[in-house]
Amino acid sequence: MFWQNEELLLPDSLWGAYEDELTEKGLIFEASQENTKKRIHGGKSKELAEEHFCHRFAASCGRVVYFLLDPKGVFAKANSKTILSLTRGNIIILDLAGGAGAGTLSLLTTLAELIDTKQIPQLPTNIKIVNADYSTDAQELAQSLHSRIGSHLLQRGIDLIFSHTEWDATDVTQSNQLCDDVFSTAPPDTEFMILISNISGIGNAGFEGVKSSITHIMQRITNKKAFVLWIEPESGDASSIMKKAFEIVAPIKWLSALFHGIPPSFTYKWFDKIKSMPRTGGMILQRFSREY
Ligand SMILES: C[S@@+](CC[C@H](N)C(=O)[O-])C[C@H]1O[C@@H](n2cnc3c(N)ncnc32)[C@H](O)[C@@H]1O
Repeated sequence: MFWQNEELLLPDSLWGAYEDELTEKGLIFEASQENTKKRIHGGKSKELAEEHFCHRFAASCGRVVYFLLDPKGVFAKANSKTILSLTRGNIIILDLAGGAGAGTLSLLTTLAELIDTKQIPQLPTNIKIVNADYSTDAQELAQSLHSRIGSHLLQRGIDLIFSHTEWDATDVTQSNQLCDDVFSTAPPDTEFMILISNISGIGNAGFEGVKSSITHIMQRITNKKAFVLWIEPESGDASSIMKKAFEIVAPIKWLSALFHGIPPSFTYKWFDKIKSMPRTGGMILQRFSREY
């Protein structure tokens, strides 16, 4: 299904929504072309958001799907624990620097496919997503993509509410307000998932600018039922940012890390349906929770 001949296949519903969005926005030709530019990290402008959407979106999705599937058993059941949280009842996913929504779209479409293939049971689930980013153009893509999969999810028992909010990660006051907004509206039995996917493009120096916000958010979840899933492409910057994340979390007693210090990296083959070619993916991942 997802893993054939040592190659990762992304869910059809994910490709369908992505392809329809690219087509509607007139970006499908651009996205089908190879782009050899090294630094494509998205950004505040429409041009940067669309460039990332065309050329890096699917790779971001692949990392999340690889984690959830864990075909080599390298994530010590952190994938099953994440899936359990996503199917248990009420969950709010705070997608930090969520951009065009690759992280949450992958989570949701993979859940739907796991239900279809009877690998997990279909249970009534409420999933609320709050996508926080400073690029409203990227967030409009995310909004549209998620509305494309709404009925597909509902048929499988997943009731999705998607929202986005403008947030500058360098401003800790905005992060404080973001936490207030997300936590104050949640029903008492809600679990919170903090998702961080692919922010290492800001580099080491850039991370210093957002460190206060990340620290603040990690501290704000200390009295909540919550966990953090952080996924980055394999790179030197990502390793060093993950090390800093570990150092932020280390003094917070109840949050433990899946991997101590710098997490290991993993590579895999995946198939890119839009560019019609096999590609190599590389990722590092950290998960902070109560369980380890
Ligand atoms: C490489 S993209 C990742 C998007 C998405 N999370 C993914 O996995 O594909 C990086 C995102 O960080 C956002 N970003 C960069 N600096 C930011 C800041 N200071 N505040 C909020 N968002 C920021 C960009 O707008 C972009 O959407």
